Amino acid sequence: MADEKVMEQKTYDDAAIAAEFQQKRQKQIQEDCAKPFDPDALLEVRHLRKCFPIEKTLTGKVTRELVAVDDISFKLYPGETLGIVGESGCGKTTAGRAILKLHQPTGGQIIFNGQDITHFNSSQMRDIRKQMQIIFQDPYSSLPPRDTVGGILSEPVEVHKIVPKDQVKEHVLALMEKCGLRDYYFERYPHEFSGGQRQRICIARALAVDPKLIICDEPVSALDVSIQAQIINLLKQLQREMGLSYVFISHDLSVVKFISDKIGVMYLGAMMEFGTKEDIFREPLHPYTKALFSAVPNPDPTVKMDRIKLEGDIPSPANPPKGCRFHTRCPYAKEVCKHVPPEYKEHAPGHFAACHLL
Ligand SMILES: Nc1ncnc2c1ncn2[C@@H]1O[C@H](COP(=O)(O)OP(=O)(O)OP(=O)(O)O)[C@@H](O)[C@H]1O
Ligand code: SF4
Ligand SMILES: [Mg+2]
Repeated sequence: MADEKVMEQKTYDDAAIAAEFQQKRQKQIQEDCAKPFDPDALLEVRHLRKCFPIEKTLTGKVTRELVAVDDISFKLYPGETLGIVGESGCGKTTAGRAILKLHQPTGGQIIFNGQDITHFNSSQMRDIRKQMQIIFQDPYSSLPPRDTVGGILSEPVEVHKIVPKDQVKEHVLALMEKCGLRDYYFERYPHEFSGGQRQRICIARALAVDPKLIICDEPVSALDVSIQAQIINLLKQLQREMGLSYVFISHDLSVVKFISDKIGVMYLGAMMEFGTKEDIFREPLHPYTKALFSAVPNPDPTVKMDRIKLEGDIPSPANPPKGCRFHTRCPYAKEVCKHVPPEYKEHAPGHFAACHLL
């Protein structure tokens, strides 16, 4: 208690704190990025950062940046699903796209299947790309309207020479059956299908090249609840049959709970907490995680849950709060939280969080 009082009365030199934090972080990044790769992991993301320029001079010099993804790290093993949750604008999609290198990362390392692909050029990525696929939220705009289902699904199989040319149709029909699409859909066009059927076509297209990893970016958010369950079950079944790994981005916590093995909780570009599904749902550590879960009724009486109501707007990622970026909305915030960024630390094996209270 006495220590707490001293802490509250302390004056803070924000510039010095930021400089020291930055220096410590750079050292940590250098050390971590020099470590050997985990041979068992399919995907290892180390200190991933993605900035977007938001102001430039007339000569094109960037004068202001938005840090959409700020130092996220995790490992994903074959056959696992990592759920990424967080409010709108926290950087989920940017993280997913940066992992696939659809956005070139600004910093950090992406190790896929034992290879550091962070600086791979587009031709080096060609071979990798077929092993990493993405499914988008909107199944309406993500399919070309003028091509038939057969054409849409055959194209990646032909481009990546997945099977000999004379076996492409057979391969595509087998894929369609796996995804619950009837064979006569082969000649039909995307506009003839419902949202759920279109998402099945998108899933089949992602699977056409025999990937190891699929980034699913809110794949069921645009669908009716009853259809959502069918698509989630399909993804689970395909995962079992094909040994796929998923990064599953969503803001629907019940969906994430159902599908994920591990969960990462993001806020304003940073990872606030990371752990197994059991860690995150049974023993959430971070006030933000607790606040997010407060909104979801939990029927399990053994689950410890401090109910926290999340108030206030999300600050702009272009100008995140100093100290702990969650302090403007955190009911437990103390003076120290306004000035000193909490360290993201492992509090139990595999369970990480960033909060001064821990
Ligand atoms: N190309 C871009 N240029 C500039 N800013 C961008 C760009 N793409 C994303 N951003 C910004 O980066 C931040 C993170 O965006 P992102 O789309 O990754 O969030 P999200 O968590 O996926 O949100 P949602 O749940 O709404 O899909 C947002 O502030 C967004 O405005
Ligand atoms: S560091 Fe402080 S403001 Fe941030 S989550 Fe913990 S208690 Fe809340
Ligand atoms: Mg998004």
